[in-house]
Amino acid sequence: MKRITVFGGSGFLGRSIVLKLAAGGAAVRVAVRHPGRASHLEGAAGGGTIELMRADVWDEKSVARAVRDSGSVINTVGHYVEKSGATFDAVHGQGALHVARQAGEAGVRRLIHISGLGADPSSDSPYVRARGIGEVLVREAFVDATILRPSVIFGPEDAFFNRLSDMARLAPVLPLFGRGLTRLQPVFVGDVAQACARALADPETAGKVYELGGPGVYTYADLLRLVIERTGRKRLLLPVPFFVWEGMAALMAILPNPPLSRDQVKLMKGDNVVGATAMGLAELGIAPASVEDILPTYVNA
Ligand SMILES: NC(=O)c1ccc[n+]([C@@H]2O[C@H](COP(=O)([O-])OP(=O)(O)OC[C@H]3O[C@@H](n4cnc5c(N)ncnc54)[C@H](OP(=O)(O)O)[C@@H]3O)[C@@H](O)[C@H]2O)c1
Repeated sequence: MKRITVFGGSGFLGRSIVLKLAAGGAAVRVAVRHPGRASHLEGAAGGGTIELMRADVWDEKSVARAVRDSGSVINTVGHYVEKSGATFDAVHGQGALHVARQAGEAGVRRLIHISGLGADPSSDSPYVRARGIGEVLVREAFVDATILRPSVIFGPEDAFFNRLSDMARLAPVLPLFGRGLTRLQPVFVGDVAQACARALADPETAGKVYELGGPGVYTYADLLRLVIERTGRKRLLLPVPFFVWEGMAALMAILPNPPLSRDQVKLMKGDNVVGATAMGLAELGIAPASVEDILPTYVNA
């Protein structure tokens, strides 16, 4: 099998994709800014091979080097908080364009672009807007790109449930975003990785968009209750109006690594669930794992 280059292969989702493809015997190249952070992957290649390469999606020459001699490319680069030059547009917009354009110029056969549920070029959220613009730019540069839009992704090492369970262990009262009624459809990281592998293996998925959600839709309060139950604590859920969260996020913005951004607060105002008519995991032949199946493997008392 020809080489598969995974941009962002050292990240939470990227690691899972890299290990799945390598376990299936693929030659995988991990393209990231800090290859040292991914060195542990080299020894876990299973039946395939894993090589690390330095690349920054904002530096198009480094992208060109990373896609050379690749049959397929997966772009799973992302970040959640803007920092100096690493704006959402630089990473999710122009950075995504650089990957798609260089993949096209190098004669790469398949491109999988990881976006996010709700991506919308006209959104008033800078993150969601950059994701939407990124999809448009990717499609223009590589018309047959397969776009995967996951909902919130969970699994051991996730940011979402691990952060909530840390809070549940420490704090007697847990704050809700508003009344905690925002609906989410968490999807297991292994299922998103499997979706990438299936999309690469099936040429029929070229040029299509898939929305990836798990088998259940939950309110934020439901998910918090599940975490509290797993940690074996008794905790109070406290509704906190969005304007209070916005104020806190504005204050945190001065920190070098703010735990919460204004954009994240904005995202929690709207539901994040798969559209009624969207293609998803079922069309890729995947029966998704539920939160109830997986959470006990890494969140415990
Ligand atoms: N996690 C979720 O719940 C979720 C939900 C929906 C969509 N998504 C999307 O899924 C993708 C993966 O998310 P994740 O949670 O796995 O993110 P993550 O853990 O933060 O990983 C991001 C990866 O991108 C790399 N990266 C960041 N900036 C880069 C740049 N300029 N050039 C090259 N590589 C760069 C990072 O490595 P270096 O820092 O070493 O470069 C890292 O490997 C993202 O596009 C995200 O928006 C995630």
